[in-house]
Amino acid sequence: MNVLVAGGAGFIGSNFIRYWLERHPGDRVLNLDLLTYAGNLESLADVASAHADRYTFVRGDIGNVDLIEHLLTEHGVDVVVNFAAESHNSRAVLDPASFFRTNVLGTQGLMEACRRAKTPRVHHVSTCEVFGDLDLDSTDAFSEEHPYRPRTPYNAAKAGGDFVVRSYHETFHLPVTLSTCANNFGPFQFPEKLIPLFTANAMDDLPLPLYRSSQNRREWLYVTDHCRAIELILEKGRIGELYNIGSGVEQSVEEITDRVLALLGKPETLKTYVPDRPGHDRRYLLNSAKIRRELGWEPAVGFEEGMRLTVEWYCANEAWWRPLKERLAVQEGSWGGR
Ligand SMILES: NC(=O)c1ccc[n+]([C@@H]2O[C@H](COP(=O)([O-])OP(=O)(O)OC[C@H]3O[C@@H](n4cnc5c(N)ncnc54)[C@H](O)[C@@H]3O)[C@@H](O)[C@H]2O)c1
Repeated sequence: MNVLVAGGAGFIGSNFIRYWLERHPGDRVLNLDLLTYAGNLESLADVASAHADRYTFVRGDIGNVDLIEHLLTEHGVDVVVNFAAESHNSRAVLDPASFFRTNVLGTQGLMEACRRAKTPRVHHVSTCEVFGDLDLDSTDAFSEEHPYRPRTPYNAAKAGGDFVVRSYHETFHLPVTLSTCANNFGPFQFPEKLIPLFTANAMDDLPLPLYRSSQNRREWLYVTDHCRAIELILEKGRIGELYNIGSGVEQSVEEITDRVLALLGKPETLKTYVPDRPGHDRRYLLNSAKIRRELGWEPAVGFEEGMRLTVEWYCANEAWWRPLKERLAVQEGSWGGR
């Protein structure tokens, strides 16, 4: 099988490519990525040499319909998985336009290319954040039927992309599935995101910038469990359906910070409280009963084990993340009058 992975040089996409090539020895993977500040081919350097005959990289924009149609046809692509997106909520406050360009219009370009090339199977990766947020004391969890109520430019743009994908299914019968996933963590995550940023800062005895609302909670999933869920959706998912992917494990930002500090043996005095990001969502929690019931998925890596693996990975891979810290686009807490 020939698989085109869009956004494969990012955090989850690179983990997915590694996962797929290991588990599907007969398949070829074509990685299409624009290499924005968040894309990094170093994340796949080992894969590119170990699987040189089955792995190809092409630099390109998911909005470039002609390029992608050509690639889909030339490589006989059977499956497209779309991870490509602008993904950092904090950066979306500073430059919302780039989020709508890639996450909505870019997604439309990719779907149009798939339609023209008659791609047999398309999967679009989305986020729990499209559903909006929950009260901290709510007993609710978002099911797949929950209305989309995005609150930030990032999650509004992701919601827009999801509607594009659904419209290509309903109108043009493009054989799509979608998934909305909880917060991921694991190796190769850009050090702008909470766990890698705090790990990297703590290793250097630098302050860890917590938002004042540090009791805000997220649901956490180890990245390979996300990859496995997408694999199952591709194998057994029903066309046109959305699947929630969540662990059910919630942790506040404060709890995550304490765990990073404990794993590294660093003092609590590194915690520094900064102004909240505008529109900062309080809490997300998914009801993942559908994927567990229909596809038999469940997480394999527990939260504590995943945190230990992640922090150990960042300790052992400074050469990977140190150059990326220079590229950080956002100073957390510097929202000015926004
Ligand atoms: N990280 C999470 O916790 C999480 C949770 C749920 C869903 N998601 C979704 O999963 C997907 C991947 O997230 P991530 O954390 O790996 O993001 P990331 O920012 O690490 O990677 C995104 C990748 O997309 C590429 N890209 C950006 N714009 C592009 C364009 N126009 N054309 C081609 N490539 C482009 C970037 O170069 C980068 O390699 C996103 O769609 C995101 O919304 C992420």
